[in-house]
Amino acid sequence: MSENINTLFEQLSTYTSTPAYPFHMPGHKRLFGVDEMPYKIDITEIDNFDNLHAPCGIIKRIENKLAAAFDSDHAFMLVNGSTGGILSAISAVSDIGDDIIIARNCHKSVYNAAMIRRLNAEYIYPETDENGICQSIKPEDVSAAIEKAPHAKSVVLTSPTYEGVVSDIESIAKICHEHNIPLVTDSAHGAHMKFCAFGQKGESISGGADIVIKSLHKTLPALTQTAAAFLNSDLISEETFRNYLEIYQTSSPSYPLMASIELCIDHITAHKDEFKLYEQRLHDFYEKMSDLKHLQLLSNNNYMYSRDIGKIIITTFKANITGYELMKKLRDEYQLELEMSMPTYSLAMTSICDSVEGFERLAQALKEIDSTLKYEKKEPFPPLPRPRKADPEKGEKGETRSIYIYPPGIPIVAASEVCGENELRYLKKWQPQSHRL
Ligand SMILES: Cc1ncc(COP(=O)(O)O)c(C=O)c1O
Repeated sequence: MSENINTLFEQLSTYTSTPAYPFHMPGHKRLFGVDEMPYKIDITEIDNFDNLHAPCGIIKRIENKLAAAFDSDHAFMLVNGSTGGILSAISAVSDIGDDIIIARNCHKSVYNAAMIRRLNAEYIYPETDENGICQSIKPEDVSAAIEKAPHAKSVVLTSPTYEGVVSDIESIAKICHEHNIPLVTDSAHGAHMKFCAFGQKGESISGGADIVIKSLHKTLPALTQTAAAFLNSDLISEETFRNYLEIYQTSSPSYPLMASIELCIDHITAHKDEFKLYEQRLHDFYEKMSDLKHLQLLSNNNYMYSRDIGKIIITTFKANITGYELMKKLRDEYQLELEMSMPTYSLAMTSICDSVEGFERLAQALKEIDSTLKYEKKEPFPPLPRPRKADPEKGEKGETRSIYIYPPGIPIVAASEVCGENELRYLKKWQPQSHRL
């Protein structure tokens, strides 16, 4: 950036006036909205503007709209991302020191909630593919975990994952409910799924999960930090959940963020056709990419219940380029900014706001890069390590820290665990990114 730039606002203004195309969050792709900086609508809880923590007026109306749009009994606006919703959900289902079942590929916010509540976690380890991508959580693994931890207060899993891997929520919810255990799904990456044909299989609210958390900002046209929680449960009361939302969320919720949630919901309910056009663009894109020689686009495999095709994963497993290099090349030579990269893949995140031109630019760039590559087979990624448990108190006080790659923010070793040789070997696989650890 130029030396004349002094403020974050100036840097943002300069960057966003370049031709850089965003294949990353937020889902509005900077094409949606009214103002560059929303000072004019930034107020506090003055008369007639209701209160997020005790809504009975205009904010209650937005929550009702959210509930209707997602076919949910109850909906709650979240203004500090899915993180606030996840901390609240796990607190609402557990008492201090309880047992809980957690899918090992959950986001760090799940681990942080478990640490704060001193929960004793029984982990479900998903299989991983050659790229290290975690596959679906299997219903039979949930049954086995419940057998091991019969007093668990909840099962918590992520679906869809950051890479778009979806689990069979309907079967898993059935198993949980047979044992009177609520299912919490972190569907931070799945706010768009209900509105897409490809998103129906495994959809978490219709599948029967008790609490579902969705970031609106990740895959829908809404401002960063906006999210929503959905409650459909005989096992958790609305009062308890709202109480924890009040504890974990700011007491000064941003009106521009809440207005953005309403604009987003109004837009997607009035323009359902945009999801059809989006799916068509995605199908056209995958079709165009079918003759790539060395790069490959990830598709469903036997270990995946279903997948969000809006997460375009370009694997470099059989090419003489790493995922990091591919992402850099797309940035430097094509001005296409992707969401993230790993040793053998790069991830482009899409939404209804992506243009035909954007998809065309990505397709053209991948074809050109592919034509310059050679075959090179990489070593498959090892399965997730299983670190030994240690003292949770040290983690909460910051004396020990979780180790994770961000994104996706999944702890490889949690703060309450020991980093042994196996874990170190696993971490070395990410060495080119080690500065981000
Ligand atoms: C799977 C998953 N869950 C939860 C979160 C937290 O969401 P937010 O950033 O909206 O707080 C993230 C963030 O990247 C995530 O990837």
